[in-house]
Amino acid sequence: MTPLTIWIEKRIRADGPMTVAEFMTTCLSHPDHGYYTTRAPHGQAWDFITAPEISQMFGELVGLSIAQAWMDQGSPSPFNLVELGPGRGTLMADILRATKSVPGFQDGAKVHLVEHSTVLRRVQKETIQAPIAHHDLFEEVPDGPTFLIANEFFDALPVRQFVRDGAFWRERVVGLENDALAFGLTDPTPMQALDHRLQDTKDGDLVEHCASAQAIVADIGRRIASFGGAALIIDYGDWRSLGDTLQCVKDHRTADPLLTLGEADLTTHVDFEALAREAAPASFSRLTPQGIFLERLGITDRANSLAHGMSGTALETHVAAHRRLTHPNEMGTLFKVLALYPSDSIPPPGVGV
Ligand SMILES: C[S@@+](CC[C@H](N)C(=O)[O-])C[C@H]1O[C@@H](n2cnc3c(N)ncnc32)[C@H](O)[C@@H]1O
Repeated sequence: MTPLTIWIEKRIRADGPMTVAEFMTTCLSHPDHGYYTTRAPHGQAWDFITAPEISQMFGELVGLSIAQAWMDQGSPSPFNLVELGPGRGTLMADILRATKSVPGFQDGAKVHLVEHSTVLRRVQKETIQAPIAHHDLFEEVPDGPTFLIANEFFDALPVRQFVRDGAFWRERVVGLENDALAFGLTDPTPMQALDHRLQDTKDGDLVEHCASAQAIVADIGRRIASFGGAALIIDYGDWRSLGDTLQCVKDHRTADPLLTLGEADLTTHVDFEALAREAAPASFSRLTPQGIFLERLGITDRANSLAHGMSGTALETHVAAHRRLTHPNEMGTLFKVLALYPSDSIPPPGVGV
């Protein structure tokens, strides 16, 4: 039993079952025992590895796509260069390195990082050798032209889960059964936010709803439409979510979310359609598989040029990284890219329209 199990059981005894969203928030962000609050990313191994940690090529190409979008919109200056959930800061460091030679980009960029973990904020300050402003929430970033990247951020946001029952929905909750944590369902209630899912679901189907992701994307879309800018949202998921995608990973293995509270990463697949619907009045791109996005941006040429002068294990690791980022059996298809951009502009390179 983890310290967080004791805390959650006490909370349920006092106030009744928790929604899955509250359960996720507590497990990931509890001030004393949450997964992201307690991890010391340099000492302890993380339970996952993200694309920018696999190879510098990922951040370089994302940076060039964002810089091209900035130039396509007349190189506004100053502008906000924003990253949501920057982890160790590797992606932003690679973006800044890759865009050094883009005239005016670095001079105009005000770097804003949205990160709630104080441990990770310290790591990001060390990794990114440039002035940065940290924020708990995206809404704290000042208005202005906004060029934004979010890689594996939205999958960490808490979702509520609903099981269809006729025209109503029963919410999936975490409660206590025989003194042990267990999933259960509430009584059926109507859910206006899920009205559009009555068309493509049947009784017993489970759908997920991430209100916080939708609120953030609505704010991003408003800023892009009002002040210019673009967003690249990269994550695992699909156009429309169906079924339980709550995923718990500990030591690189799938684990039981009710047995590893605060000690495992909890994520869900991103429902990109729900995000795209909120982005208006900004436009959204076609949902593009990560492998295709990176190939269009020239990852294979970049990989070949970096391979010159490499040999032995370094070369093998480099080739494996290229495959891992792009191959359909690895991250190439599971991960997708959605771009947001002003309706009178073209999307950042790499995504389909
Ligand atoms: C899986 S990591 C992604 C790291 C990084 N983007 C990368 O590609 O390596 C998720 C990041 O989002 C942050 N995060 C998760 N939920 C958050 C929230 N609600 N507000 C701010 N940051 C959050 C975590 O602390 C972490 O930095």
